[in-house]
Amino acid sequence: MSTSNILTEFLNMEETNKNTVENQEEEEENLKFQASEIDYVSYGGEHHLPLIMGLVDSELSEPYSIFTYRYFVYLWPQLSFLAFHRGKCVGTVVCKMGEHRNTFRGYIAMLVVIKPYRGRGIATELVTRSIQVMMESGCEEVTLEAEVTNKGALALYGGLGFVRAKRLFRYYLNGVDAFRLKLLFPSPLLHPSLSMMAERDDSHWHNNDHIPIEECSEVH
Ligand SMILES: CC(C)(COP(=O)(O)OP(=O)(O)OC[C@H]1O[C@@H](n2cnc3c(N)ncnc32)[C@H](O)[C@@H]1OP(=O)(O)O)[C@@H](O)C(=O)NCCC(=O)NCCS
Repeated sequence: MSTSNILTEFLNMEETNKNTVENQEEEEENLKFQASEIDYVSYGGEHHLPLIMGLVDSELSEPYSIFTYRYFVYLWPQLSFLAFHRGKCVGTVVCKMGEHRNTFRGYIAMLVVIKPYRGRGIATELVTRSIQVMMESGCEEVTLEAEVTNKGALALYGGLGFVRAKRLFRYYLNGVDAFRLKLLFPSPLLHPSLSMMAERDDSHWHNNDHIPIEECSEVH
């Protein structure tokens, strides 16, 4: 390739990069929306599954199989929420609840908001909605794990009242340690239908090969 061709190609690349940056800036500039423009819906069926998977796969370090996603959303559809802006899915939270060492507790498995929509309270709203359902369902506490390096998530959960209960050495497949975070509620009486659900959940996760690693560590 001649020197002038290389130079032309270089200039073209520079132009493309400039356009990409300008497009991103334009996208963020266009994102002047009111909080009321975000619609929050609970998991509504199979059509939501690819949206959740797309967001989580692109933003979380831990890989999950479709069985894992189905485990959560089929058993606890009322605990998973999606945030939409003008029809586009911009955030999601996926959770479960069940009996654990004589307590009935909620667990936040996945939480993602796409980059251009961060810092606008969307994750807070998603998590708060899930926690609200957990409380109404009789949970006494909520737990989750977050990478010790994930400043954003740690700040968000700290602001919601979660405390660091444990440090889990090399917890993630990428070798990073985790903090187990915990939020305690006042302890209401467990609703009878939830006791039945908890029994069913327990047998399910002891026999299921597809439970994510954090779930396995929870039951020991
Ligand atoms: C973590 C994440 C879900 C936060 O989403 P978000 O919609 O931006 O969060 P919110 O706007 O509700 O933030 C609420 C509070 O959390 C804290 N926070 C959120 N992101 C932060 C960051 N990057 N740095 C510092 N604090 C942060 C702030 O205190 C914020 O309140 P403020 O805006 O009033 O200061 C988002 O950054 C994300 O999807 N990250 C990648 C996936 C991930 O890490 N998920 C969590 C796994 S445990």
